[in-house]
Amino acid sequence: MQHPTIGFIGGGNMATAIINGMLASGYPAERIWVCDPNANQLTSLAQGGVNTTDQAGALLPKCDVITLAVKPQILKSVIEPLATAVQQHQPLIVSVAAGVSAESIDRWLGGNTAIIRTMPNTPALVQTGATGLYANDRVSQSMRSSIDDIFKAIGVTVWVDQEADLHAVTAAGGSAPAYFFRFMEAMSKAAQNQGLSEDQALQLIVQTCLGAAKMVQQTGENPAELKRRVMSPKGTTEQAILRFDEGGLDALVEDAMNACSRRSVELSKELDQ
Ligand SMILES: NC(=O)c1ccc[n+]([C@@H]2O[C@H](COP(=O)([O-])OP(=O)(O)OC[C@H]3O[C@@H](n4cnc5c(N)ncnc54)[C@H](OP(=O)(O)O)[C@@H]3O)[C@@H](O)[C@H]2O)c1
Repeated sequence: MQHPTIGFIGGGNMATAIINGMLASGYPAERIWVCDPNANQLTSLAQGGVNTTDQAGALLPKCDVITLAVKPQILKSVIEPLATAVQQHQPLIVSVAAGVSAESIDRWLGGNTAIIRTMPNTPALVQTGATGLYANDRVSQSMRSSIDDIFKAIGVTVWVDQEADLHAVTAAGGSAPAYFFRFMEAMSKAAQNQGLSEDQALQLIVQTCLGAAKMVQQTGENPAELKRRVMSPKGTTEQAILRFDEGGLDALVEDAMNACSRRSVELSKELDQ
């Protein structure tokens, strides 16, 4: 499918991020539709040239792909009324709703639906997202590749073969921006205690975080090796890294990420009822 017509149900933060990425990468605006009840939201999206409507049903005859981008808690009530039209038009369904299983979406839409579940993260808002994706067995290779292109417009894509792995994707990607914000917060406090202003601290920390990420990405080196190169024996960096290690950083991070994916499993069970 080259540039399928794609409709978004829900035109909030995540849909806007994806649409902006698609437009920035040259996706034809006339092939994008958005449905949202909020007129202001639609007006702002229409400025980018995309088609808008407040009727989700209006998307079905027009779109090859329907992207579900409403809050997970209301997904069932939003899509169940569309089941007959979905069965008639058989679009590919792409869900960005966290935690709602492909099996539930399929059941609510009447069955036999091709579904791709995605777990993007908020850096998608600045076209630097990391999205995990899972396709059920009704999704063709060409559908997969079209959707991969769309999500690549807002960052990197990582496909998983088992839907259950999306819980680990949540721990390593979906929720993970907050870990780095938390680490920046802690570093900023420590730097201010050593005498820097908040502004000075954040300028250094944010740029260092960006630079470290770019070094891993651009050199292809393992983070452990890049760490070793900064850490000369008996030097300053070694002192800090030793403190992290003695403080049990690996175990703490593992515990935090396990708690995150456990909560993801619990939420999915609640949402799938
Ligand atoms: N933001 C993230 O970091 C993130 C990350 C991963 C996944 N997600 C997923 O992305 C989805 C959307 O999240 P978001 O942050 O973009 O939420 P959001 O900004 O609240 O967007 C949802 C939009 O859907 C609209 N809506 C409500 N009922 C609707 C209906 N019946 N038909 C069409 N549109 C309707 C809402 O309008 P009103 O505001 O007027 O109700 C709102 O504009 C969620 O399922 C979330 O799990 C988000």
